[in-house]
This record gives sequence, C-alpha cells and structure tokens, in this order.
Amino acid sequence: MDEKLKPLIQESYQFSVAPMLDCTDRHFRVLWRQISVKALVYTEMIVAKALQYKNKEKLLDFDEIEHPIALQVGGDDPQILFEAAKIAENWGYDEINLNIGCPSTKVQSGNFGACLMAHPKQVAKCIESMKAATDLPVTIKHRTGIDNLDKDKDLLDFIDTIASAGASRFAIHARKAWLNGLNPKQNRTIPPLEYKKVARIKELRPNLIIELNGGLKNQEECINALQQFDGVMVGRAIYSNPLAWKEIDERLFGEKRKLIKASTIIKGIIPYAEKHLSKNGKLWDICKHTLSLVQGVKGARKWRHSLSQKAQKQKAGLNILEKAARQLEDAGL
Ligand SMILES: Cc1cc2nc3c(=O)[nH]c(=O)nc-3n(C[C@H](O)[C@H](O)[C@H](O)COP(=O)(O)O)c2cc1C
Repeated sequence: MDEKLKPLIQESYQFSVAPMLDCTDRHFRVLWRQISVKALVYTEMIVAKALQYKNKEKLLDFDEIEHPIALQVGGDDPQILFEAAKIAENWGYDEINLNIGCPSTKVQSGNFGACLMAHPKQVAKCIESMKAATDLPVTIKHRTGIDNLDKDKDLLDFIDTIASAGASRFAIHARKAWLNGLNPKQNRTIPPLEYKKVARIKELRPNLIIELNGGLKNQEECINALQQFDGVMVGRAIYSNPLAWKEIDERLFGEKRKLIKASTIIKGIIPYAEKHLSKNGKLWDICKHTLSLVQGVKGARKWRHSLSQKAQKQKAGLNILEKAARQLEDAGL
C-alpha cells in the first residue's frame, strides 16, 4: 500500500459509503469525492470468479480520486479469493471486503453471500486465504443472522470464528436476512433493525473493529452511533441525497472543506466526465447520479427533467453538463 495513504485508510472506516449494486459505481464514487475526501468507499460486489477472466479492467478500474477504496467481492472458494486479493492489491485498492450479506437467490445458487453465515468455518478459510495473499486489510460485511440462525450466540460464534481467521473489520448490516420468501429489497426493509444486538457484540468483543450499517438516515444518527461503534456505513440515505452529507468530513474528521453546492459538485466532475467521454463512455453514465443533487427547491424537477432528456442522447457531450452547472450557479445552488 502507498505509505502516504496509510493514515487515511486507518481513519476512513469510521464513515463509509455502503456498496450498492448499480448505484455506487465508479462514476458515483467520483461524484461523492466532491463531497467527502475521507469516507471509505466500496465497489459494488464483484463475483470473485469473474476476476479470473480477461477484460478485468471494466470491473476493476477506478480513478485515483476514489481512494480510499475497498474492493468488495463475493465467493466461497479460498483459492479464487486468494487470487482476488492479489488482484485487489496489484490494482491499487486499499482494502478487500468479503460479502456475506447478500441474500439474492442468484447469489445463493452460487453458494456465497448471506447463506455463508451458516458456514463460518468455510468463511474463515476464505479470510485466511485472502490474508495470505495480501497485506491489505481483509474485511467482511455480513448480517446479524439468517433464517433461524439468528440468536446472539450464533452471531458471536460466527464473528469469533472469522476474527480468529484474521478479519480486520466487521461491517454488520443490523438486520437478519430471510433466505427464502423475501427478495433482496424486502430483506433491506422487512426484518427489523437490531442495533442493540450489534451493540452487545461490541460490548462482548471490545477489541474487534465493528462498523454499524443499516437504516442510518443522517449525520446526527451517525455521530451518535460512533459513540458506541468504531465505524458507521451508510447506503441509501447517501445515494438518495448526497448533498445532505456535505459537512461529514468537517464533522467527523475536522477537515475544513470549501462550500459544497450542487453546482460545485457538477463542475468538479467535469474533468472526469471529459476523460470518460474520450474513452467512448456515455455522458448519462455519470449524469444519472447527479439528478438527486437537486431536490426540494423551486425548479428542481424542471432541471432534472431537462438534464435527463439531454444527457441520455446517444452523442450527448460535455456542454450539457457545463450548462447544467451554470444553471445551478445562476440559481445560487
Ligand atoms: C440498490 C442496492 C444495492 C446493494 N448492493 C450491495 C452490494 O453489492 N454489496 C453489499 O454488500 N451490499 C449491497 N447492498 C446493501 C447495502 O450495502 C446496505 O447494507 C443496505 O442498503 C443497508 O444500509 P442502508 O440502510 O444505509 O442503505 C445494496 C443495497 C442497495 C439498496
């Protein structure tokens, strides 16, 4: 790991942006970096097996500005995960994270994600193997339980087994998952949040680094949670309203930032958008993530409508983004 980045990585896990398929792609992460330079970001989950094929660039490439960044992978095969961890290090990631939280039927049929909570020894083998491959932090993201394996003791046994394998941090989505009967979306809303259960784990295992995830809505809730937990991870509340988090670096890390507004964010991503277009990327890949920057103010709907109409056109160019930024600037946004 780059020596300069080490201190940043060490504190960044206190606040992270949850991995979210189809949301936290590299374009969104670049946008987020206009708001926070400190928070740890994760890639969307990548199936570890897919990293064995050629053309890994599309899955793995990221922009320098995205540091600190963790690669999240899904898998159950220690050898394949060994290779994934090596690749993560060679590609310049700051951390590798194993997904033991996804309950989708597709992921279950590949025998990874949340269903592996029933097989802690297998997960421990995977973590050991990843640790053997890299000096990067090897971390895990999991649920509080699955199906009827949902007692405190089940969770503690799981965590103890994984801790002995050397996992550096536990990001716990504070909800159990039902593997049959609920789809992934329902599994993020129907099982109740269990912050107290995660707090009991932290009390019983004070030396483990425990990061709380699930249902955190705003900066205050995160700051409160940090009194009890080592880190907090936020997903939907960030993606649906990134600007609501604009003071997060200052409040959590004491990092003074210039005034962050929707227009400055868009202006900030223009050089990145230019690079993306020059590699035949589409403007919409980036613009789709900007729409939620403007909400709850007069003219917001019109601005979003106009931008999405224009940016989705096949040959949409940079001028569309530049104009969108100017419009916001003129409106003082
Ligand atoms: C659209 C979407 C995609 C997600 N994709 C992933 C993923 O790839 N890997 C993962 O570990 N969790 C994934 N999650 C779960 C989130 O990381 C997080 O655990 C969950 O949304 C709860 O946090 P929140 O209440 O702050 O959103 C996803 C969630 C959403 C909403």
